Amino acid sequence: MLRKLQAWKKSQDPKRLSLSERKEQLKQQPVPEHIAIIMDGNGRWAQKRALPRMMGHHEGMKVVRQITKAANELGVKALTLYAFSTENWKRPKVEVEFLMKLPEEFLTTFLPELIEENVQVRIMGEKSELPAHTLRAVEKAINETKENTGLILNFALNYGSRHEIIRAVQSLIKDAEAGKVDSSVISEEMFSSYLMSSGLQDPDLLIRTSGELRLSNFMLWQLAYTEFWFTDVLWPDFREIHLIEAIEAFQTRGRRFGGV
Ligand code: FPP
Repeated sequence: MLRKLQAWKKSQDPKRLSLSERKEQLKQQPVPEHIAIIMDGNGRWAQKRALPRMMGHHEGMKVVRQITKAANELGVKALTLYAFSTENWKRPKVEVEFLMKLPEEFLTTFLPELIEENVQVRIMGEKSELPAHTLRAVEKAINETKENTGLILNFALNYGSRHEIIRAVQSLIKDAEAGKVDSSVISEEMFSSYLMSSGLQDPDLLIRTSGELRLSNFMLWQLAYTEFWFTDVLWPDFREIHLIEAIEAFQTRGRRFGGV
C-alpha cells in the first residue's frame, strides 16, 4: 500500500522521475503534434563566453539536431524552427553570410541521419532571396526526404509572417481575377492553404528560448490557438529535458479553443 502511494506521489511530480520514466509518462498523454520553436539567445550564449556571435549560432545548429531527434522519438509529427527571419537581413553582413551557410553545413553533416530516421525536411519562407548555395542545399534535402513519413522538420528560413500573409492575399486576388476562386468561398481553411505552412496543421505548442516574450513576426495566423511556453534557457543550452518540460506543461493546459 505504502509502495503504491509512493509510486503515485512520484508520478505526480515528474521531476522525481528518471528521464526515461518521464518520457514514458509523457507518452501516456497527447503529445503536441506540431511544435514551433523560436530559437533565441545564440548571441548572448556566445557573449557570455567572450566568443564571437557566430559560435553561438554554430552551437545552436548542433542543438537543432538533438531536438529534432528527441521530438521524433517523443512522437511529435512536425517541428517548425525559426532559423532566419525576413528582418534578420539587417544584421552585419558577416553574420548573415554565416547564418546562410548553416543550413548547408547542417544538411551536409546530418542529412544521412535524418534520412535514416525517416525525417522529412521542408522549408517555409521567401526562397527567391536565398543565396544559391543555401537554396541548393535545402532543395537537395527536401528532394531526398520527400517520401519520408516520419517527423516533418520545417525550417522557417527567410520567413516573416506579415510577408507570408501579404503574399497569400496577392495569390488569392490573382486566383479570383482569373476566375479560379469566388470570394464567397474564402474560408479560414482556404486562406490557410495559401500560406507557406500549407499542409501543416497549426502548431499546438510554441516554445521561445532566452527569456524574450514576443512573437517576432512568427506564424501570426497559425498561432491563434497555440499554447505558449517560454524559458530563460538560451538556445545553445536547450536540451531534450527542456523539450520534455515544455511538453509536460502543455499537457497540464486545458485547451478550449474559445469554448467552455
Ligand atoms: C536568434 O538568436 C537566432 C537566430 C537569428 C538564428 C537561429 C539559427 C540557429 C539556431 C541555427 C539554425 C540551424 C540551421 C540548421 C538552419 P540571436 O542571435 O538573436 O541571439 P541574441 O538575442 O542572444 O543575440
